[in-house]
Amino acid sequence: MNPTPAVCPVWLANLFRQAGGVVPFRQYMEWALFHPERGYYGSGQVRIGPAGDFATSPSLGSDFAELLAQQLIALLQSLPSDGRRLSLVEVGPGEGDLAADLLQAIADRAPDLLQRLELVLVERSAALRSRQQQRIAKTQIDGASMPPLRWCSLKELAAAPVQGVVLAHELLDALPVDRVVFKNGRLQLQGVALQASGCLDWCLLPLPEPMAEAIAASDCALPPLDAAEGWCSEWHDCYGALMQSLSAAIDQGVLLVIDYALEAKRYYSSIRSDGTLMACRSGVAGLDPLESPGAQDLTSHVCIESLNAAAASHGWRPLDQRRQGEMLLALGLAERLHALQQLPPHELPQALQRREALLRLVDPAGLGEFRWLLFGRGPLASALSLQAAPES
Ligand SMILES: C[S@@+](CC[C@H](N)C(=O)[O-])C[C@H]1O[C@@H](n2cnc3c(N)ncnc32)[C@H](O)[C@@H]1O
Repeated sequence: MNPTPAVCPVWLANLFRQAGGVVPFRQYMEWALFHPERGYYGSGQVRIGPAGDFATSPSLGSDFAELLAQQLIALLQSLPSDGRRLSLVEVGPGEGDLAADLLQAIADRAPDLLQRLELVLVERSAALRSRQQQRIAKTQIDGASMPPLRWCSLKELAAAPVQGVVLAHELLDALPVDRVVFKNGRLQLQGVALQASGCLDWCLLPLPEPMAEAIAASDCALPPLDAAEGWCSEWHDCYGALMQSLSAAIDQGVLLVIDYALEAKRYYSSIRSDGTLMACRSGVAGLDPLESPGAQDLTSHVCIESLNAAAASHGWRPLDQRRQGEMLLALGLAERLHALQQLPPHELPQALQRREALLRLVDPAGLGEFRWLLFGRGPLASALSLQAAPES
């Protein structure tokens, strides 16, 4: 990444000064995204959707949730019905589109299941929590059929662990990550420094010993043998804490992670010389990550081996993984496309919009390449897999 003089806003400059002027990139990302008043998610400045900063699958319309609901219903119905309530937990619900559309889809397809289900939303940002409440209030489910619904933290859930399905849709790509740089024949930690000019710039810090040991012990060949001087990538220490909190909160069930993800050998290839970190705003990606902190998204891909290792060390067994395009087609996306042809002419504009959204969901150069990664916890969940049940 080229050093770019980016002017630091006052709120962030104060935090830098309190921290001595230089912090690891991960701390910078934490502030830029999650500072409660100024962070991009913390303040609620984020806008998800085709007209916002970036679009996610659920933000393209209800088709995604309707197709995914079939898979979730199958998973929920495979869990034991020993009289306990089942929980559908979504961590990082963003605008609340997925939760609202899933509720509606489950109410339409499996009303009996709804009666023993609760919806639990785990959201770090207070501003987003209130947007999610407003979005879910607009569902058409009648009051009597509405399942119990609550917002809480994973720590609160751990006081009375639940059983069910946890969904993490584009959650992991928003977790603050460390960045490592191959310089002078060794890995160093990427830092961010507040300059005397008031601008932010990149810098190098010594790699902490525990991180060096974790990298050496991992299944990731990092740095790659043929890495050029300056090669840089992400390191995901952050998965461990998340997996630990999830295992304290869920005693039996599955976790479905849906995200941009790469195998370690592709993630840490010498060709990918600047990692996967991306800054975006108003639909434009590839911006300078040090520019406009708090006003743009920062995101990085998931490393599958690192996630599997963190999951396994906290009691989550990796069960299955598929590409989104494959899953959505198996769940009936092509039939939906075909059915659009039967719509009356006055519905043509909506049909065209839905057609475009459906094609985007399976585009192999975009959302179709997303991975659906399934993990299980508890003896009865360990035999489950992603079994696509097409629409009837
Ligand atoms: C990239 S957005 C994805 C939103 C939504 N899932 C979607 O796909 O449209 C990331 C979401 O995760 C939330 N988030 C990030 N870290 C979190 C954490 N540790 N616990 C709960 N929510 C978190 C953010 O506030 C935001 O709602």
